Amino acid sequence: MSAEDEKQTVFTSESVKTHATQDDLWMVIHGKVYNATKFIDEHPGGEEVLLDVGGMDATDAFEDVGHSDEARKILAELCVGQLDPSEVVTSTKSTSTPDKKATPSSSGSGFVSYIAFAIVIAAVAYYVYTQSLTDSK
Ligand code: HEM
Repeated sequence: MSAEDEKQTVFTSESVKTHATQDDLWMVIHGKVYNATKFIDEHPGGEEVLLDVGGMDATDAFEDVGHSDEARKILAELCVGQLDPSEVVTSTKSTSTPDKKATPSSSGSGFVSYIAFAIVIAAVAYYVYTQSLTDSK
């Protein structure tokens, strides 16, 4: 969500797909395009996993591991552009083509789901807490 995102080159997923080898490895994470070629040898998680997602959307793979802030810094340095906004499916950010589907006020929806998530967490925590009180009796 930073201003620097806007000036980047836009790639289609078709063009990203053509960079899927060890000598030329790109991937898409959260709608941005990354050139991971130089990083393959250095990746603490190994080259195999990077090659597996070469030319593809690696958002889930990247997030499932729970990468550190340090990893995200490295990632930022590898960024070469962004995916064509009309092709981004994993992002909740508004695209340049407004669609009259069930899109609640674009800027508010992220915040609302954040609050909803916090409420669910609080409810579960309260439940666990009351259970533990009952158990200890
Ligand atoms: C260009 C994208 C990526 C970068 C810059 C990156 C960077 C890193 C860094 C710095 C670490 C060390 C731990 C940490 O700081 O979180 C790490 C660990 C790891 N990465 Fe990645 N990573 C990338 C993509 C991926 C992908 C797509 C996968 C696919 C599953 C993956 C799997 C792992 C695993 C399994 C580890 C843990 C290694 C261990 O602790 O034994 N990474 N990565």
